[in-house]
Amino acid sequence: MTHPIPRKTFQTSEAASQAVAQEIATLIRGKPKPVLGLATGGTPLKLYAELIRLHREEGLSFAHVTTFNLDEYCGLDREHPQSYWNFMWRHLFDHIDIDPANVHLPSGTVAEQEINNHCAAYEAAIMNAGGIDYQVLGIGRTGHIGFNEPGSAIDSKTRHVLLDPITREDAAKDFGGIEQVPTGAITMGCGTILSARRIALLAFGAAKAAVVDAATTGPVTDQLPASFLQQHPATTFFVDQELADAS
Ligand code: PGA
Repeated sequence: MTHPIPRKTFQTSEAASQAVAQEIATLIRGKPKPVLGLATGGTPLKLYAELIRLHREEGLSFAHVTTFNLDEYCGLDREHPQSYWNFMWRHLFDHIDIDPANVHLPSGTVAEQEINNHCAAYEAAIMNAGGIDYQVLGIGRTGHIGFNEPGSAIDSKTRHVLLDPITREDAAKDFGGIEQVPTGAITMGCGTILSARRIALLAFGAAKAAVVDAATTGPVTDQLPASFLQQHPATTFFVDQELADAS
């Protein structure tokens, strides 16, 4: 079934991030074994800063929390400055009381012949943890969620994918040139994401307005994987006024 996706607009990206952090804090305080799906990129940085503040100043404990990240670049080991493993520890995990055993990201260095097993094990680990209670998403210019680029199937699972040239272009500044950007990644699938009980997609700034409009009100199409979220019963888009003004 297709649902209109509710959009909550906040004056600033800080305020939007605080609202998402409050939802996460409520979940964490109310459930013995909450499971979070986490995202990387510029968009969730203020959310992670707020979760760290809640931990330090308001006693929010992550000791009983399990996390699964959306994706990882192929070819980058954990220590690589652009790996998502590195990103997550730098921007969140190093600053909260999470048990490292409860942190999960796909591996960027698993041997090629092991990738399928690795992806199946990632799906199984999510299931064994009880499924994702709350999935945080960003959205790329291509309409990707995770690294599910146009053409991804609605029921796709964790798998190896090739990155869209636009996505590689957007990552070029972080890598010091497009030729340094990996060509592949391992990502949760659209189906994996849609299995989450609640989904919060964050998008800020005028440049994201067109893709957010298309995802929320356009046709549901594999040419814009974020539009699949119209078929999820509990997704909200959290946007800032700058995006709203441009949409
Ligand atoms: P960004 O990336 O947060 O860096 O804009 C979002 C995404 O590609 O999903």
